[in-house]
Amino acid sequence: MIKCMNGRLKPFRYVLQITTMKKRLFSGIQPSGEVHIGNYLGAIKNWISLLDDYDCIFSIVDYHAITIEYDPGIMQERIINAAATNIAAGLDPDRCIIFVQSQVPEHTELAWILNSLTPMGILERMTQFKDKAQQNEKNINVGLFDYPVLQTADILLYKGCTVPIGEDQVQHVELSREIARKFNARYGDLFPEPQHLLSNAPRIMGLDGKNKMSKSMNNYISLIEEPEAIWKKLSRAVTDENRKRRDDPGNPDICNVYTLHKYFSTDSELDRINKECRSAEIGCVDCKRILSDNMIKELAPIREKSLELINNPANVIDTLNTGAEKCKKIAEETMKEVRSLMGLR
Ligand code: TRP
Repeated sequence: MIKCMNGRLKPFRYVLQITTMKKRLFSGIQPSGEVHIGNYLGAIKNWISLLDDYDCIFSIVDYHAITIEYDPGIMQERIINAAATNIAAGLDPDRCIIFVQSQVPEHTELAWILNSLTPMGILERMTQFKDKAQQNEKNINVGLFDYPVLQTADILLYKGCTVPIGEDQVQHVELSREIARKFNARYGDLFPEPQHLLSNAPRIMGLDGKNKMSKSMNNYISLIEEPEAIWKKLSRAVTDENRKRRDDPGNPDICNVYTLHKYFSTDSELDRINKECRSAEIGCVDCKRILSDNMIKELAPIREKSLELINNPANVIDTLNTGAEKCKKIAEETMKEVRSLMGLR
């Protein structure tokens, strides 16, 4: 197996460089427009904690986004917003690369090559494809089917070793390992087998308390939500459904609002709410008020920074262009190696 050292070391330089070489980390960001607290707590916070230990590349995956119906007129806005909000939330471009996938066409070139190594049968078994095909019955296109191969190309193009993702993407990273192994066996050792890295934040549930927080379920709080809107959304959030009246005791263990408190409130607030909810001393409205105040406070700097970047997109565009240039260099190198191993050029 290829060592996760990006494979560029000559033996005599190894000793000198080993102390400074970091493993490459790659992850993809969907340009879904608004970034919500589920993304923030479940993914972005985890990424931030990895910035110093890895050589990090984050891609806004617009070529993945076009596999479902979308409005071309607002795609650029979605991309800029996704970049701006992720940067504002802490993906500091001085400590990682952030770029737009379609600015580096080698992603699709490598995807085509990897297509020829991927059995249809494996893709037919992908849970996300089956789910999305069901949700988009009228538009089950080849791109949707091939999505995991493009994702594999994303990772392998940079010889990514570590892929931080949510539970729902584990199957895709397993596939990328399989494809890497196949390429190496067929054409010669080139790619490391990427490993997934799950964040320790559990899935953040939406305000309905039932489904994962997501834009499409409209059960989310975005990172640039107005303070009043945060309160409005929280006031309608589902709590322990067995607590029907104010005087009923509640059970924080099964209350999604209490779960959200764990990310935004202090230990003493948590203790108090836990106790007073069980004894019906505190009602859901007051409990949500505390959460809302804390959330508004924590999100304020992110919101401010995001809006500043969104309103002045030239800076974000600059950052993305610089990111794409750096990625392009790495991608070109990899493609030279790929073509040469495959007898193409
Ligand atoms: N499919 C991923 C998601 O929906 C996004 C993604 C695209 C990705 N390319 C990637 C994640 C490469 C990790 C590595 O979340």
